[in-house]
Order: sequence, then structure tokens, then C-alpha cells
Amino acid sequence: MVKASREYEIVVGRNILCDAGKMIKKIAKPCTVCIVTDDVVNNLYSEIVKKSLEDEGFSVIKFVFKNGEQSKNIAVFTEILEFLAKNRVTRSDIIIALGGGVIGDMAGFVASVYLRGIPLVQIPTTFLSAIDSSVGGKTAINLDCGKNLAGTFYQPSLVICDLDILSRLSRTSSYIFSDGIAEAIKYGIIADEKLFNIILNTKVNDCLEDVVTHCIKIKRDLVLKDEFDKGLRQLLNLGHTFAHSIEKCSEYKISHGHAVGIGLAMAAKASYKLGISKDNLYPQIKEVLLNNGLPYNTTYTADELVTVALNDKKRSGEYINLVLPVMIGNCVLYKLRIEELRGVFRMVIEANK
Ligand code: GLY
Repeated sequence: MVKASREYEIVVGRNILCDAGKMIKKIAKPCTVCIVTDDVVNNLYSEIVKKSLEDEGFSVIKFVFKNGEQSKNIAVFTEILEFLAKNRVTRSDIIIALGGGVIGDMAGFVASVYLRGIPLVQIPTTFLSAIDSSVGGKTAINLDCGKNLAGTFYQPSLVICDLDILSRLSRTSSYIFSDGIAEAIKYGIIADEKLFNIILNTKVNDCLEDVVTHCIKIKRDLVLKDEFDKGLRQLLNLGHTFAHSIEKCSEYKISHGHAVGIGLAMAAKASYKLGISKDNLYPQIKEVLLNNGLPYNTTYTADELVTVALNDKKRSGEYINLVLPVMIGNCVLYKLRIEELRGVFRMVIEANK
């Protein structure tokens, strides 16, 4: 249960997608439900959700957009709003975000502004969205200048996380599954050495429920302390200043989770070089990334990356908060003057050579 500006349940279980309608009926009377999804997820899971809703008396409409980060833009955002208006969706109706992080961020943003806010249910279908983006209420689209530059804080009314979907993903797309592993490693480095060691020494798919619930609890606790990202919640951005620059430089060909993996390794190097971590955490972090098929370095230059990083929304006036690990299980916010950022990027990239 998360109790931020809105209290909501996060239901984690196996084979529960077909019960989505029953679960949603506990929070809403039968109404119109708009499923927002992409063409890939649509083929896999839309029918199950639609049927479960119709069985409970809901009427269902659906907006499907093209899979991929490139769709997380203002044009698609506007199209969805127009679709809702054309279908006379009202404030007592519901939007379901059925899919990964792109869908959750996009549908969440739409739900937060359509008619000044209509209820949102998150049904994550990737490991990454299950443990990160579906929980905590951050919504966003990308702008030409950078990732997630427009968005809102808008908590869902319910999150339904079906572990069978994630297990299936681990078999059918190890690349997308490992995106989520990068975020799980991030949680371990931020707050839970035990979790980090589980991921280091075990196949994540063999302890999926454990890993998912640990990660969600860490996120829940940080969101409860700082829903609007003014302080402690920023710890969840470990590796992300580096990662967002890598994603943008690659025109999103490098996925978010893979970029986060590289960002975690870069944060470990920066931390050691800046004297924040007494021990060099890079070897352990490199090992856990390698064990899970994740990258740990980049070929972009420091100057290429820093130009993009300077557009990052996490910049605040003349400062940027960099998250740095002190040890595995403990990170700090390190306030850096904007003009010092280039030096940090150069220091980290130089260490690659
Ligand atoms: N994904 C980082 C956050 O929700 O704060």
C-alpha cells in the first residue's frame, strides 16, 4: 500500500491479469475504461484485460501507439487526449496504462491533465515498469531537448503487477528483462546490500517475487518521504544523469535500463574519484552488470554527454544533484555546481581508457 497524495494498492501476484476487472471494480463502479498500450503489448495482453473488464460490466475503448521511446512525444500525447475527448470519456471513467515505462509515463501524463485528472490504473508488463515507473506517480513525455522534460506527479489509483508476465518476458526478451535488472541493481546500491548480493549471486528470475517486492518497498518508502522529488526521492536517480545523456545521444537506441547500467558504473567511478566512497565500488558493480548481460561503459565522449546533461530537468538553478554511492546499500546526494559537471564527466570517461 502506498499513501502519498493518494493511497493505493500495489497488487503483486501470479496469473492475476485475468482478474484486472475484478480488482478495478473494487475501486470504481462500471464505467468506460480506456486501455492505453502499444502495438506489441496490445497483441499480447489487451484481450485478456478487455475481457476481464467486460465480464465485470465495464465498457472498453483502446488507444494503441507504436512501440518505443520515440513515441513518448507531444504529438502522441495530443492524439490520446483528442481520442478521449472524441469518445466522451468523463472524469468518472478510467485510463489503464498497459505496458512498459513509455506507456506508463505517457498514459499517466494524459490521465493527470485530461479534464484536470481522471483515475489511472497501472498494469506494468516489463520488469522495469513493475519495479519503477508504475509506482510513485511520476509521469512524463520527452521533448526535443531531452528525456522526461514535461510531466506531472500523479499517483495511480491501483497498480496490478502480474509476475507471470515478467517471467515470460525473461524467456522471450532477455534484453528488455535486463533493463529491469539494471533498476533492481540500482535499488540494491541505494538501500539494500542484501538485494544487491541476491542479484549478484542468483538468477533474478529464480527469485522474482522477492526482488520485485524488495524494490517496490524501497521505492514506496522514498516516495512516502518525498513524493514531489525535492530531496530524498532523488536518490532513485542514481546513475540517471549519466543514463539520460547516453539514451539521448544514442537517439534512444540504447534503452533506458541499459543506459542506467552504464550510469551505475559511472556513478561508482565518480564517487571513488571524488572521495565519497572509501572503497572502489566499480569492480563489484561491473561484475553484477556483466553477470546480467548489461553494459558498463560508453563510447560517447564526456563533451557529447555533458551537453545533453545540462538540459536535464534535475538541474536546479546553478546546481545539479548527483547521486553517488558511499557503499553498497547507501547513497548520498552530492550537490555540484553546473560548471563542475563537465569535469566530473571527463574524469569518469577518462577512467574508462
Ligand atoms: N524513477 C525515479 C522516481 O520515480 O523517482
